[in-house]
Amino acid sequence: MAVDVLLGLQWGDEGKGKIVDVLGHRYDVVARFQGGPNAGHTLVIEGRKYVLHQIPSGIFHPGTVCLIGNGVVLNPVILQQELAALRAAGVDLSQRLLLSRRIHLILPTHRLLDKAQEASKGAAKIGSTLRGIGPTYQDKMARQGIRLGEVHLPDFAQRYAAIKAQHLRMLTMYGFGPADFADDLKEWEGLFEACLPELRELTLVDSEVYLNQASAEGKRILAEGAQGTLLDIDFGSYPFVTSSNTTVGGAINGLGVPPKHFGSVFGVFKAYCTRVGSGPFPTEIEGDEAERLRQAGAEFGATTGRPRRIGWIDIPALKYACMLNGVTELVMTKADVLSGMDSIRVCTAYELDGEVTERMPFVADAQVTPIYADVPGWTLPADADRYDRLPEGLIRYIELLESALELPIRYVSLGADRKYIVEKPLLQPNVLF
Ligand code: IMP
Repeated sequence: MAVDVLLGLQWGDEGKGKIVDVLGHRYDVVARFQGGPNAGHTLVIEGRKYVLHQIPSGIFHPGTVCLIGNGVVLNPVILQQELAALRAAGVDLSQRLLLSRRIHLILPTHRLLDKAQEASKGAAKIGSTLRGIGPTYQDKMARQGIRLGEVHLPDFAQRYAAIKAQHLRMLTMYGFGPADFADDLKEWEGLFEACLPELRELTLVDSEVYLNQASAEGKRILAEGAQGTLLDIDFGSYPFVTSSNTTVGGAINGLGVPPKHFGSVFGVFKAYCTRVGSGPFPTEIEGDEAERLRQAGAEFGATTGRPRRIGWIDIPALKYACMLNGVTELVMTKADVLSGMDSIRVCTAYELDGEVTERMPFVADAQVTPIYADVPGWTLPADADRYDRLPEGLIRYIELLESALELPIRYVSLGADRKYIVEKPLLQPNVLF
């Protein structure tokens, strides 16, 4: 099978970017399938940190083509900044970045609408990254958005003016007058217009045709997800979700590749949980312990810098995510952050309305109480660079999760840098029998 999928199983920030980078050399194409610059995929290569928002995390492998699929919403100004940063770092981009013509553009007024919509929700706000993601997907579904391929049409300026006028009318409905946004609009529109010439130079493709042909030729493709399963528009903790399908179906629609081409589904999860923004988080912890993990794990948003909420690992939520995505193998990240703890809490089920359950509640504000098992902690040795050198507590933790999720953990990430990754050896049949 030509297309593997890699996606997050929690609320985003699972460390997907690093894993795409680690696995990237195996693939001819790495393709992003949804989301936009609300994502922040952090990679550390030889001590140098890079944050990608829209460009696929395979970009550091010279032999890999990176493609931004039709399911993504794109801010061209941020793309220009990402490209400039990569060029400055000496990354050769020639013929390596392809973009679907069908990508919807995030316009300056989409960002204003995001702000106005969040403000109108008051205390019930989503905690959006305010990157204009929701309003851009709204226009896509309302069949009035502007697609990337339209930048080459002679009437692009008129199309832009028409949608902008409509957005400005909508802003007044939210109680936003020109005085509330004139400065932002001027600045963002200036940047948007300035980036158009470079945008017109990029290689646009019918990515669905490109990827199907690549698959037919036996090329290997990795579909890269953004955010995480529990932020999925259909299956996440609605309404506290993002505006796209972050789950495996998003890869089918966001790239235009049918299921018959799909192979492995890598589900990436953190050894504990984090969440940014509002919404339910059953295993959330606060106080000193949360702060220690936040600092140890550098749990601050890569896009917004916001401190992330912290919690223990949540097996019912992971089971749900594995089921939805048809995960075939797991990748656990940030196990190093838990190092040095005497014991670690694992949520094995919930109590809801006096009953023990593993089901995700339908209503976002349902009062779910986690049921915990406490397991022994571990301290990582300095030479933890092979599976058989991992401390016993960590191996037990891995085995506990594998047994609860009925899936193998293939990789364990033990630090931000590309080099901190341990592959779990596959059991040979003669070991089993
Ligand atoms: P939006 O997609 O920016 O509108 O944000 C909707 C919700 O998803 C908010 O709670 C955000 O904090 C969250 N979110 C969006 N993108 C990411 C991400 O890449 N990582 C973690 N949370 C995200």
